[in-house]
Amino acid sequence: MPLKQTNSIPDIVIGRLPLYLRALTRLQQEGREVTSSHELGRKLGISSAQIRKDLSHFGGFGKQGTGYQIEYLVNKLRTVMQVNQEWHVALVGAGNLGSAILHYRGFADRGFRIAWVFDSDPAKIGAHIGGLTVQPLEELAQTIKENQAKLAMIAVPAEHAQSVANMLVEAGVQAILNYAPININVPDHVMVQYIDPVVHLQHMTFYLKD
Ligand code: NAI
Repeated sequence: MPLKQTNSIPDIVIGRLPLYLRALTRLQQEGREVTSSHELGRKLGISSAQIRKDLSHFGGFGKQGTGYQIEYLVNKLRTVMQVNQEWHVALVGAGNLGSAILHYRGFADRGFRIAWVFDSDPAKIGAHIGGLTVQPLEELAQTIKENQAKLAMIAVPAEHAQSVANMLVEAGVQAILNYAPININVPDHVMVQYIDPVVHLQHMTFYLKD
């Protein structure tokens, strides 16, 4: 299945939308109703002109001088990013990191529910972690197909990440968040994002002064 067409909105813009949504949601929680591209820019370290340009891809949100209606913008961004619905996510790997992910409450209130967790270790299968029961890897394909799950997270050792990715892709997953510190190969129709804090730390050590 081809990826959704985005009407040529650059991926770098799509990548900033979650940051806008996060900042706007926080303002909303503070009881605020209106903000401006200047305020958002200050909070995010992005120029106000860039923010106005990014948001203009999705229609005119702000009137000159009156700023953005936060609730309207939040709803619009949630619709654009398709997080106005709950996504069910499959997690592979129920070790230290997998357990932390399962206990993290920050996914649910932002549109994502870890719905299944799989592991290959017989000692872990059947264990209850964060409200879920660890399923054997053998059940991955059927569970994903039956539920038409599109999103998965990988939290297995690096040397097993590719084989797990292959299983996920074969089962029909379209997007993988890989926590293992290794690049994985997937077909063009599948998206992969990586989380490796060491990459970010190394990016910064380059600039550190003695
Ligand atoms: P761990 O050893 O505690 O857990 C790994 C789990 O994966 C175990 O339960 C093991 O049985 C399972 N597993 C191994 N092969 C499997 C397979 N083929 N299919 C299904 N399950 C399988 O390791 P930990 O500390 O949880 O780390 C997991 C991965 O996450 C590693 O690649 C590690 O480098 C990475 N990591 C990434 C972090 C990040 O922030 N990006 C932070 C911590 C770990």
